[in-house]
Amino acid sequence: MCGIVGYIGDNKAKDVVIEGLEKLEYRGYDSAGIAVLKDGNLFVEREVGKLSELKNLIRNKDLMSNIAIGHTRWATHGEPSVANAHPHTSTGYDIAVVHNGIIENFMELREMLSKKGHVFRSATDTETIVHLIADYYIDNLEIAVIKALEELEGAYAIAVVSKHEPDRIIVARKGSPLIIGVGEHENIIASDVTATLKYTDKVVYLNDGEVAVVKADSVKLMNSNGVELPLDIKIVDWDISAAEKLGYKHFMLKEIFEQPEVIINTLRGKIYSEQVEIKEISAEILHGIKRVSVIACGTSFHAGLVGKYIIEEELRIPVSLDVASEFRYRNPIIEEDTLYLVVSQSGETADTLAALREVKAHGAKVIGIVNVVGSTIAREANGVIYTNAGPEIGVASTKAFIAQLVSFYLLMLQIGRIQEKISKGKEREYIKILEKIPNQIENILKNHLYIQSVSKSLTFVKSIMYVGRNINYPIALEGALKLKEISYIHAEGYQAGELKHGPIALIDEFTPSVAVCVKGSTYAKTLSNIQEIKARKGKVIIIATEGDDKIKNEGMDVLYIPEISELFSPLLTVIYMQLIAYYVAEIKGLDVDKPRNLAKSVTVE
Ligand code: F6R
Repeated sequence: MCGIVGYIGDNKAKDVVIEGLEKLEYRGYDSAGIAVLKDGNLFVEREVGKLSELKNLIRNKDLMSNIAIGHTRWATHGEPSVANAHPHTSTGYDIAVVHNGIIENFMELREMLSKKGHVFRSATDTETIVHLIADYYIDNLEIAVIKALEELEGAYAIAVVSKHEPDRIIVARKGSPLIIGVGEHENIIASDVTATLKYTDKVVYLNDGEVAVVKADSVKLMNSNGVELPLDIKIVDWDISAAEKLGYKHFMLKEIFEQPEVIINTLRGKIYSEQVEIKEISAEILHGIKRVSVIACGTSFHAGLVGKYIIEEELRIPVSLDVASEFRYRNPIIEEDTLYLVVSQSGETADTLAALREVKAHGAKVIGIVNVVGSTIAREANGVIYTNAGPEIGVASTKAFIAQLVSFYLLMLQIGRIQEKISKGKEREYIKILEKIPNQIENILKNHLYIQSVSKSLTFVKSIMYVGRNINYPIALEGALKLKEISYIHAEGYQAGELKHGPIALIDEFTPSVAVCVKGSTYAKTLSNIQEIKARKGKVIIIATEGDDKIKNEGMDVLYIPEISELFSPLLTVIYMQLIAYYVAEIKGLDVDKPRNLAKSVTVE
């Protein structure tokens, strides 16, 4: 759950590494560090806090060199401190390692290495890696790394440098992402492409078990036994500007405003002659399925919940849902005629990946709905729907969620066609609805100043209830999650009809609610639920359908979405949820893009 960057090339190593770490700060930001090889020596600088602290520390130091590795940390073992920050160094300060992942057998290794005289200076699992490499080191870093890796249990992406071999960075991966950006007389290694895009669009994705020796003019890729492998260089067509804020105050706001374009990109390449065709998923996989099982975490789980309503409503195929961290441990029944869907923005979430592997180990097929191209989940799934939302930097997921929803509509249409459950006419009608959504979202976004003013009333409350029914119940959950993660206000998402079974006890004049009450099958019932809240003096912000003037008298404030079939309404109602959460956090002056205790890519179970 950390970010790794390394550079070898000309004299700008430190700058490239620091800049790369800035792009990766979303992966963790409790401490940061850099190791530079210069004039036959290894220099290591580390600092607690965000990267800006490290930048202050090294501002006046001469670290100009052609090789460096750096790290931004999200603590797993050992509190955030200078001693626990990466890079970690060998006892003789000649080898340095940065690491993302968890070494599970570090206690045993630490004991063994301590007995042999290696001096441990931190409480981290990572430090065992550098001492283990040093223990094996005679005169060849590559061999020492390969031998050390054989003894490590757990997950890692590592980068290693030694002052004895200043012309190379050794990298390896097992279970945590790592890429090599291949440039002209320079190479960059990183946890993901946002750190390398500025320098090159050529990328090698390391697979689990692979090791590489990265020099300025060459990359030697090997398997875990040191056998050389061919380099598979991919071209990444993400625009560098997509990874920057483009004038928005926060990445989250930029990403919310990008959603109309994201939908267009998600649809792109998946519709031919008014028919959905996701090429990456074979008809064979979808043909005989009788059930669907969705596995995901957090916001991606909420997308899966909307997916359940979409698929069950339109195809009458039962859909079950699991939070990935629970799936593996409840001894799930895995059946061949069930389609397993894992949903993940990052494609690296450890819990989701573990669930995917569990399903595959039982011989069933898994399809991924994934944003990050080339990510582990995307590569290990039997088929993948790329959501094409572009890099999502804000820790709170917004545009990836909307792209996941669109992917569920498309998948439903594809299954429907293959299983002959959706007529051609209906498919065309639904595609048209999807194509209109970007414009409708644009119109909602134009109202952002009004939404900001409505959000003010929520800024200083202690607790907020979010309610919805049917396909908008997951949107209530998503609204509550967004709010709590970035504004630190307690929020709960509930089925509006469930309030009276307990949570209504929390309602009073100081506990407002946000209710989705759009036109559709549960409109009248939700309206009654809103009355129940109002009867307890609870104030309500209502998300309603344009033209519903009656509802104005019901709520404190009404936020309108254009008239739309209930089935597609989550694509619009969620925009208000995202903006409310954003503005509440922004008005409170909080660090919206990097909320406390969270990281963008959760690569530990
Ligand atoms: C919330 C959020 C998280 C992620 C979750 C899964 O805004 O971003 O809840 O949705 O950690 O991450 P992915 O989708 O990368 O598997």
